[in-house]
Order: sequence, then structure tokens, then C-alpha cells
Amino acid sequence: MKVQAWTKEDIPSLKGQIVIVTGGNSGLGYESVKALSKRGATVILGTRSMERGQEAYLSIQKENPNAEIDVMALDLADLESVKTFAESFNEKYERLDLLLNNAGVMTTPYGKTKDGFEQQLGINHLGHFALTGHLFEVLKKTPNARIVNISSNAHKSGKMNFDNLMFEGGKGYTPMKAYAQSKLANLLFTQELQRRIEKNGLDITVTAAHPGVASTNLMRHIEDKFLYKILGRLLAPMTQEASDGALPGLRAATDPEVQGGEYFGPGGRWEMKGAPVTVAPITKSYDVMDADQLWKVSEELTGVIYPLNQ
Ligand SMILES: NC(=O)c1ccc[n+]([C@@H]2O[C@H](COP(=O)([O-])OP(=O)(O)OC[C@H]3O[C@@H](n4cnc5c(N)ncnc54)[C@H](OP(=O)(O)O)[C@@H]3O)[C@@H](O)[C@H]2O)c1
Repeated sequence: MKVQAWTKEDIPSLKGQIVIVTGGNSGLGYESVKALSKRGATVILGTRSMERGQEAYLSIQKENPNAEIDVMALDLADLESVKTFAESFNEKYERLDLLLNNAGVMTTPYGKTKDGFEQQLGINHLGHFALTGHLFEVLKKTPNARIVNISSNAHKSGKMNFDNLMFEGGKGYTPMKAYAQSKLANLLFTQELQRRIEKNGLDITVTAAHPGVASTNLMRHIEDKFLYKILGRLLAPMTQEASDGALPGLRAATDPEVQGGEYFGPGGRWEMKGAPVTVAPITKSYDVMDADQLWKVSEELTGVIYPLNQ
């Protein structure tokens, strides 16, 4: 393992590689698209707004005219859109070296996705579960493919409330509870997928990462709140730029030494900022029963069945 701090310069050449970044138009996703295309990958920028996706593409292209970026519509709050995205991808491309499941929403008011799922679990976990399943065949046939799920420090307060996963009718809903549950789900999914891949003897590595606290558009649902204004000011010196927040995900995605199931985050105090290192998620992220239950519920809810033996 590298002793010095890992930086973008450590990303190996990605020439010839095909990569998908969800939520590639903003924040960490945007920075990841920029960094991965700079190392030669063809990057599919998944975005729920083609207009914002095009803007992001033009802005990256201004800096790097050689960047190969394909902007494609993807709304993770709509299973039909997820399926259409995957079908269009499969028609155009024959390999998928990296799937960076980055898009997310945080602490939204109670609301539902098009398919009736509570929206934080729906977008952050179920949408990505469905997307990964639809892309599984192409990942399977690509040598040394990798899947990275972006979680959060917030997973530490997460609980899988299987009796009322969706906070039906808003019952028991708090924006933070639902966010934390969805981010714990990202980690349970990472471990379960890695376990199933290993059992099936496949050449795919699944990892996870979190950015610490990075300056992006994610806080839009709380930034007007009084408490956030105070806390935000207090915590400002401990936060980092989006380009640094993207590094744990980029390391999880490209470091050749990474092992399946590893989790990356900033190495500084309380994992809020700093160079990316392996970090420990809470023990519950490794709970095999919860992971298996989440898998089954996710298959039932999305209707997406992975081509894997148990
Ligand atoms: N920033 C942090 O401090 C922090 C901390 C912990 C974890 N994270 C995680 O990092 C990831 C990236 O967040 P960020 O900080 O970069 O926030 P951001 O700037 O708000 O970016 C989030 C991205 O996800 C996209 N997205 C939201 N809903 C979507 C949907 N239904 N379908 C497709 N795309 C959708 C957004 O699209 P629009 O632009 O159209 O909204 C945007 O491109 C998230 O998973 C988040 O939970 C961030």
C-alpha cells in the first residue's frame, strides 16, 4: 500500500476504459467525471437533467478538449428511466470497466419516487440496485470490472427499519433517519454484492467510499435551517472542496491494490477531510442477515433479479 497521500495523480491511465458516473453533473460526481476523463476514460455522465448534464460536459470540455464524455439521461427516482438508461448503454457499449454509483439526495422532506418508494431510499439505494442489476451482464464480461457505491458518515446512525422501510405515510419519518438508513443500505449492498460475486467466482470488485464533508449542492434541503447555519459556520474549517471530497471514491474506483469490500474515506480527524485511506464502517454494515434481507426486498421492490446463483 502507498505510504504517501493518495492524490489524483495516482489514478492510472484509463485509456480504453468505459466508465459510468451517476449524478455526474454536480459536486463529487462532476469532479469524478473530470478526473476520470482526464486519465483517458470514456465517461458516461448519468444525469436527471440533460440541460445540467450538457452544462457540466461543456465546462469540463473547456478545460480538457480531449475529454470523452457521453451525457445520458438517468433518473434514479424512476425505474423505467433506469432501465432505459441501461438499455441505451448496452446498445452503444460493449464493456463497462467502472460503475460509480454516486448520485444522491440528502435530508429531503418526506416524498416518494415515481414507483412509490420513500425517495431517499428510492434514489440512493433502490435506483442504484436496479441500475447495477441491469448492467450486471456487461460488468460480468468486462475483465477486472469495478463497482463503487458512495455512502456517508451518516450511515453510522443508520438503522434498517425492515418493518417500515419506506416510512409509509410519513410515519416516523425524519429526513436524517431516512438518509442514514439509505446510506447504511449502500454499505450492506456493497458487502452483499461482493459476497455473491465471490461465490459465483466472478472477476468484479465492489468497494465503497465516503467524501467526509465536502462543499457541494447536497445540503440544499437544510441550508436555510437555523441549526445548519450555525453548525455550518462552526464546521466550515473542517470541510473540504468537492474535488478533494471526490478522492475517496476515485481511489476506491481506480487504485489497483484495492480489495473487494473495502471502504475509503478521508484520513483526517473524524473522517471529515484529508487524503483518502481505508476506513471502518460500523459493524452493522457487515450484518449478513440484514444484507440478505435488504437484497431480497430490493429485488422484490425493483423487480430486478441479478444473474447470480445465491
Ligand atoms: N457532500 C458531502 O459532504 C457528502 C457527504 C457524505 C456523502 N455524500 C454523498 O455523495 C454523493 C454525491 O453528492 P454530492 O455531495 O456531490 O451532492 P450534489 O452536488 O447534490 O450531487 C448529487 C448528484 O446526484 C444527482 N441526483 C439527485 N437525485 C437524482 C435522481 N433522482 N436521479 C439521478 N441523479 C440524481 C444530482 O442531480 P441534480 O443536480 O439534478 O440534483 C447531482 O448530480 C451522494 O451519494 C451523497 O450522499 C456527500
